Amino acid sequence: MEEPSAPKTVGKASVTQRHKSEPVTLSQIDLQEDTSISSGIEELDRVLGGGIVQGSLVLVGGDPGIGKSTLLLQMCRHLSERKIKVLYISGEESLKQIKMRARRIGTFSDTLLLLCETNLGTIEQVIERQSPQVVIIDSIQTMYNEAVTSAPGSVSQVRESTGVLLQIAKGKGVSIFIVGHVTKEGNVAGPRVLEHMVDTVLYFEGDRHASYRILRGVKNRFGSTNEIGVFEMRDTGLAEVKNPSEFLLEGRPKDASGSVAACSMEGTRPILIEIQALVCKTNFGIPRRTAAGTDFNRVNLLLAVLEKRLGLNLANCDAYVNIAGGIKMHEPAIDLGVVLAVISSYRDQPIPDSVMVFGEVGLSGEIRAVSMAEQRVLEAKKLGFQTVILPKVSLKTVEKVKGIQILGVQSLKEMMGLRFT
Ligand code: TYD
Ligand code: MG
Repeated sequence: MEEPSAPKTVGKASVTQRHKSEPVTLSQIDLQEDTSISSGIEELDRVLGGGIVQGSLVLVGGDPGIGKSTLLLQMCRHLSERKIKVLYISGEESLKQIKMRARRIGTFSDTLLLLCETNLGTIEQVIERQSPQVVIIDSIQTMYNEAVTSAPGSVSQVRESTGVLLQIAKGKGVSIFIVGHVTKEGNVAGPRVLEHMVDTVLYFEGDRHASYRILRGVKNRFGSTNEIGVFEMRDTGLAEVKNPSEFLLEGRPKDASGSVAACSMEGTRPILIEIQALVCKTNFGIPRRTAAGTDFNRVNLLLAVLEKRLGLNLANCDAYVNIAGGIKMHEPAIDLGVVLAVISSYRDQPIPDSVMVFGEVGLSGEIRAVSMAEQRVLEAKKLGFQTVILPKVSLKTVEKVKGIQILGVQSLKEMMGLRFT
């Protein structure tokens, strides 16, 4: 790209100029308790690591149309209800368009201020004048800084604009949410280049054809990453989904081969999912393999393990693996679910829908331990499953759970000996 590698920073005070450059000891640093405020949306707070931290810079990325503006406007509504001064700056929509969206969401209080502006210099002045506690920039791709000559949305503009926002956030203690559009490739001038500059990075994902949306934390200086928030897009905005497992298992086929319930930990929450596999004879040429919602290479590896360790003749078979609902899961704990779904489809024998499985599968066909076994079993119990198949080594950690049959297995061979499989 023909972007200048080091953009000019004309006319801006750097962070070091704002504060006196005097080193301090740790004990001199004053840690004010409770500097984070709740966003009013529990699923969002979870991903943020508890709430909105004062002076933090948060990037909310995702495909266009996924619901970023909707979510942030809803957050503004909750904040302004609690008399927290919020400034929503849009460079994409007119005030009328925002009002139309707001009407669908609900009623708003007057502590929410709206501004249509793309010039960062002006925005800085408005923030100075109004001193809001929380600012939303929708979106970073539309903002421009006069000091940089390239067009809005270019790498140097995006980077430079974020730099200015970073100074405002840290200098004035304002929490700033930046919206960034990502394309499927994620490499176009966009949020990826500024992930390292912000404190927290949240990505909104989900199948545009399905109604639910997943908000995933991929970087967080204030809390754990890989937490997810689950939402459903309704005609009144995004609704929180408190029981994602139930939601994702909805519409599961009964007594169909190739369908298995598995469990993945997303941060601190166990999420039950349905793994589907379809194995059929290759009609011509090279067998086709696809993996939707999980790692393609991992699925290929598991197919090779099945071929070698259980003698399944998969070399002449097409295999399609899918996580129902379009959600993406990459935890190795779902290996056992993938394997069992493939076996079930290969033999055309259904696995009872009262069975849930989890465990990592190793190259020798051994079933390896995964973390937080107890939470997973409890989640299965809560959802009415009767049997859980898990790694034998995890048995002792789930001893306390009663009222559900727990079967520990050491290897794929041992699992095949169970009456279900
Ligand atoms: P939007 O928040 O504009 O997406 P982004 O800011 O990420 O580009 O979401 C737009 C989509 O959401 C659009 O397809 C309409 C839909 N939508 C609803 O289904 N219900 C609603 O209440 C709202 C406000 C939007
Ligand atoms: Mg938008």
